[in-house]
Amino acid sequence: MEYLDMVVNESMRIYTIATRVNRLSKKDAEINGVFIPKGTEVVIPIFVLHQDPKYWPESEEFCPERFSKENKDRINPYTYLPFGYGPRNCIGMRFSLINMKLAIVKILQNFSLHPCEETEVPLKLGKKMIHAPEKPIVLKIISRNGAINKG
Ligand code: HEM
Repeated sequence: MEYLDMVVNESMRIYTIATRVNRLSKKDAEINGVFIPKGTEVVIPIFVLHQDPKYWPESEEFCPERFSKENKDRINPYTYLPFGYGPRNCIGMRFSLINMKLAIVKILQNFSLHPCEETEVPLKLGKKMIHAPEKPIVLKIISRNGAINKG
């Protein structure tokens, strides 16, 4: 379960679902020397932050160990925002995480997944605000022990 958590976190870093979030400044502010007048819409580019090698060494590598117990405390929470941050972050975060993990566990208990001839490598991402592959991902699915584990 610990490793599954690391894998889900790293998947959401590379393939973040929400590509950006917005905030509207309620008053004049200065952050890191940048003046933001009242009423400005500020866009936080989640996808870009998640790929920035300044925060993620070898950012193109899929490396769940970034989120290991030993490493995760070194991550600046403002550079990893799959569910946003602060008082208006995603209300469905815990629900989503538990559902993603349950789905993965259930699938992997019964099947193994393999790339096949029709699998698109590298994966092409669509251009919508909610990030998804351009085309559905095709994989070869093999039943484990030829039986489906009910329960
Ligand atoms: C993997 C699935 C999901 C992702 C990646 C996701 C991501 C996000 C992000 C990035 C935000 C903006 C947060 C911010 O501005 O700081 C958000 C807001 C929100 N999400 Fe999700 N979300 C997911 C699933 C869900 C689900 C399942 C629900 C409902 C059950 C949900 C309900 C909401 C609501 C109501 C808000 C607005 C919160 C507010 O403005 O106070 N989300 N989500």
